[in-house]
Amino acid sequence: MAALAQKLAPLLKRRDCIALYGDLGAGKSSFIRACIHALAKAKEVPSPTFTLVQTYESPAGALWHFDLYRVKKTSEILELGWDEALHDGIIFVEWPERLGALLPQRHLAIHLNFHQDSAKRRISIQGDAPWPLRLSPVLPKAAKM
Ligand SMILES: Nc1ncnc2c1ncn2[C@@H]1O[C@H](COP(=O)(O)OP(=O)(O)O)[C@@H](O)[C@H]1O
Ligand SMILES: [Mg+2]
Repeated sequence: MAALAQKLAPLLKRRDCIALYGDLGAGKSSFIRACIHALAKAKEVPSPTFTLVQTYESPAGALWHFDLYRVKKTSEILELGWDEALHDGIIFVEWPERLGALLPQRHLAIHLNFHQDSAKRRISIQGDAPWPLRLSPVLPKAAKM
């Protein structure tokens, strides 16, 4: 997971939205933490379980890490700075189901699922054009999006 995050992170740029799907403990925060460490000189990357959003400066642009598990209404998401994040930064969002119509069409969806081996995860990645082309350097040759 960390290796995948380290390959994905350098391909990201402003206005990207990475939506992480998966149950509690699936590894959403761990994956995002690895991406943020790869992009920013952050000492600590705490889970925004209570703060709902954490931001970081990076050479690639501002990094916004949202955890929407506790959000009830989309108006709360707007109050967290969602529009600014969309226009100016790179977004990583846990529980993107809460976004409803706020989720941009051009997002990259990463689904994390548990595996019978508790140290492993099944990962599926979905994104409309131009994501398949952008990700082609890091995907296994046989992978199809
Ligand atoms: N292959 C793996 N990928 C991601 N997390 C893993 C893996 N194997 C074990 N884990 C553990 O599973 C937990 C995932 O927690 P976390 O990233 O907070 O999940 P989430 O944010 O989806 O609730 C961590 O304790 C992590 O160490
Ligand atoms: Mg989490």
